[in-house]
Amino acid sequence: VREPDLAGRHVVVSAGGTREPLDPVRFLGNRSSGKQGYALARTAAARGARVTLVAANASMPDPAGVDVVPVGTAVELREAVLRAAADADAVVMAAAVADFRPATYATGKIKKKDDQEPAPITLVRNPDILAEISQTRARSGQVVVGFAAETDDVLANGRVKLKRKGCDLLVVNEVGERKTFGSEENEAVVLGADGSETPVAHGPKEALADTVWDLVARRLE
Ligand code: PMT
Repeated sequence: VREPDLAGRHVVVSAGGTREPLDPVRFLGNRSSGKQGYALARTAAARGARVTLVAANASMPDPAGVDVVPVGTAVELREAVLRAAADADAVVMAAAVADFRPATYATGKIKKKDDQEPAPITLVRNPDILAEISQTRARSGQVVVGFAAETDDVLANGRVKLKRKGCDLLVVNEVGERKTFGSEENEAVVLGADGSETPVAHGPKEALADTVWDLVARRLE
């Protein structure tokens, strides 16, 4: 049994993948199942934290003792995370957030016309929630953690992303059509803004989650 080293702390975790609707039937989405974020929420609760889990389109039962806020789009996720972050000691962004969304939403199903080429989809930028939270720090000493899902040059891209986002810790994991998304296991390197690098060997998503909370707890001391 673990020490309740997060007792008295409020932590916010985002999980799952945002869906950006085109019409009432279709959306632009990604392959996140929410498992890594749910593992973070469960392990934080087991270590005594009060946990707010902002869950984007994850189809898993609510973890016991965790306050779950369901959301759909990146804009909804931003609102829910910012609200919960106001009094949070730590925010961990494990959700896969769409960088772009369709510029327009058709209120009726978009129809296929036999004699026409398909219309292009125009995209607009979504807010960068992790960068915003890192910059504003709703509470002094708040620890902000991001994830980086990379397919190529994983560590090099992760280091660039850590600087750009301005978070304290960035969990860099490799993803692919059948890698990390939806699986029970993960492996990663946790990069610190202080230059630290903590490798986490292949294993259950809970093990990576516990390493993240170890690093967060140390920064909260
Ligand atoms: O859900 P699973 O199936 O268990 O899979 C887990 C996972 C692969 C989704 C997870 O481990 C992971 O890597 N999550 C982050 C996915 C992601 O969006 O990565 P990114 O490199 O595109 O974004 C970097 C960081 O910025 C992330 O913390 C993301 O939440 C955040 N972000 C991104 C875009 C945006 N507009 N706002 C953000 O806050």
